[in-house]
Amino acid sequence: VSLKEHFKGSFLIGAAINDSHIDRSDSLGIQLLKKEFNSITPENIMKWMYVHPEKDSYFFDTTDKYVALGQENGMYIVGHNLVWHSQLADWVNPIKDSLEMASVLKEHINTIASRYKGKIDAWDVVNEALNEDGTLRESVFSNTMGDGFLELAFKEAAKADPDATLIYNDYNLWKPEKRDGVVRLVKKLQDNGAKIDEVGIQAHWSLEGPSIEDIENSIIAFSELGVKISFTELDVTVLPNPWELDGAAVNQNYDEFEGDPKMNPYPNGLPDSVKLKLSKRYQDIFNLFTKHKEKISRVTFWGVQDGQSWLNNWPINGRTNYPLFFDRNYQPKKVYTDIISAKNN
Ligand code: G3I
Repeated sequence: VSLKEHFKGSFLIGAAINDSHIDRSDSLGIQLLKKEFNSITPENIMKWMYVHPEKDSYFFDTTDKYVALGQENGMYIVGHNLVWHSQLADWVNPIKDSLEMASVLKEHINTIASRYKGKIDAWDVVNEALNEDGTLRESVFSNTMGDGFLELAFKEAAKADPDATLIYNDYNLWKPEKRDGVVRLVKKLQDNGAKIDEVGIQAHWSLEGPSIEDIENSIIAFSELGVKISFTELDVTVLPNPWELDGAAVNQNYDEFEGDPKMNPYPNGLPDSVKLKLSKRYQDIFNLFTKHKEKISRVTFWGVQDGQSWLNNWPINGRTNYPLFFDRNYQPKKVYTDIISAKNN
């Protein structure tokens, strides 16, 4: 049995991958990927700063290899992402004029989405355009074009590859205000004749939250718009957050907590009690996904194994986190075995 077989008929099971998979140097990682997963997302290599570093130059060597890896293995290939204010190329930031921004976005989206037409199955067209209260986030895109950049992006992506699944992707979509913001955003795109197929719920979660009920409310709210839902970046952190420490303020610089043993309680392995909590948390999550399987197209983990997770370095560097289903030796964890043997998911 494998994850992809276990959830066959419900949804695809994906993983975010990196250079070491794409250049095949991580052979154990590749083995695991082929056995367990039927979808891939590039964790970093397809972002604007890497793929379009200068106005007139694109770098497709790595992204071509990424797509080839997916094709060779018959995987559902995700593109991440076309438009995001973060990991953007420096040359885009000074743009002030809305017409210039529109033409830059069109050229960028058309060049990339056309290149992989019929090969990339789904695009995160726009990533993280909203604030926590559901209003439009300030960025070089919104500053120049208001919310018009979203419509342009989705229309341009649909023109370049009419058959690709087009996704709006964001985090904290369990928050009622942010959920409402996405509902407004999707409706406006639909009203203006743009094709949007899916809302991507990133799912960077913890042992404590968000609640299953809040997640379920978002699944229902989005599917009522007639779009599918994918869980695009699933992981569950088991470590404390620096802002939960006595005296630490939200949004302060947390570097001072690097090396603090309180911030890295399990450097040599996870205690059984926490393994159990992680397993229970993931069972609740997958039970919910299974309950709504006809609304959900894909569940993608943000990484293959614990040692490769971004959560070892966020929000502070040098921690030992355990957010995924495979350990640092590429072995399935208790949570994996429990999920695979559960009857109801
Ligand atoms: O490539 C450089 C390398 O040359 C340098 O030596 C090294 C030293 O810090 O940094 C490397 O760049 C890092 C990059 O990942 C590639 O490894 C950046 O510092 C680091 O900030 C960057 O983090 C990525 C983050 O996006 C950036 O915002 C994470 O790996 C990636 O998991 C994360 O993914 C995002 C999704 O795209 C969108 N949703 C949220 C998610 C988590 O933040």
